[in-house]
Amino acid sequence: MKRQNQSSVVEFILLGFSNFPELQGQLFGIFLIIYLLTLIGNVVIIVVICLEQSLHVPMYLFLQNLSVVDVSISAVIMPEMLVVLSNEKTSISFVSCFAQMYFILFFGGTECFLLGAMAYDRFAAICSPLSYPMIMNKRVCMKLVTGSWTLGFMLGTVQTTWVSSFPFCGPSEINHISCETPAVLELACADTFLFEIYAFTGTILIIMVPFMLIILSYIRILFAILKMPSTTGRQKAFSTCASHLTSVTLFYGTASMTYLQPKSGYSPEAKKLMSLSYSLLTPLLNPLIYSLRNSELKRALIKLWRRKVDLHTF
Ligand SMILES: *[C@@H]1O[C@H](CO)[C@@H](O)[C@H](O)[C@H]1NC(C)=O
Repeated sequence: MKRQNQSSVVEFILLGFSNFPELQGQLFGIFLIIYLLTLIGNVVIIVVICLEQSLHVPMYLFLQNLSVVDVSISAVIMPEMLVVLSNEKTSISFVSCFAQMYFILFFGGTECFLLGAMAYDRFAAICSPLSYPMIMNKRVCMKLVTGSWTLGFMLGTVQTTWVSSFPFCGPSEINHISCETPAVLELACADTFLFEIYAFTGTILIIMVPFMLIILSYIRILFAILKMPSTTGRQKAFSTCASHLTSVTLFYGTASMTYLQPKSGYSPEAKKLMSLSYSLLTPLLNPLIYSLRNSELKRALIKLWRRKVDLHTF
């Protein structure tokens, strides 16, 4: 068999939203604001949980890890996207492109598993409150967290190695906002059938399995809520559950539509919108829905704020 391993493409060109030149300016402004809000929101959570001893329990350690993932995934995607939006055509070197792909898969995969672990944590806390401290002790929490990071790392390594081994002989224009697998795969001049089968099975395991477990645990949680005696408590728990479910569904839904069939027939514009949903919306919304609705975290934030103000007045 003849091996084709000389790739003639040495750099790619990211097109971003160049089909809409009149929108570039506005999009740049909107994305910059979203990026800054995402950084601020998540960094506040990381710092508050770090400083507040009473929050060093599994639920908040998961949240803190989720915020680290969200900050990282935004930092991998957004600055590059802002550069793309402020230029007509942005070239990105082969190596940077695959580095971006690697980190998107690494952090994206970790997020998938962390959200699953968090749903399991809530499920145990609400459905078996008495044995919860035993089910979710520090060691189990640590294992779930390191497991999520390890699986994300493996996903990034395997998939990026595989995709970067394909020959790329031109054209070199990526009609997407970042170097994500499906967009780059379209430029490979080789038979990618085997990879697509891998992507399909991999996506089922990495996205659909945690997603199904999350849905199942929330169904159990909903039943537990319905048995609650007080109406206001029930309403509050219900709205928290609903907001978690919405964001989780948005994240897993759009990610699985993108990765299940990397060469699917969705238009490039639809793929860009789906990508924005999990790479930009999820990291922005997570701090809002998981933390700002949480009175313990709000109290810790206010406490730290007061302490800081006190320090300044003396
Ligand atoms: C993540 O989770 C681990 C394990 O529970 C915890 O030790 C760590 O402090 C968390 N936060 C970060 C920022 O990694």
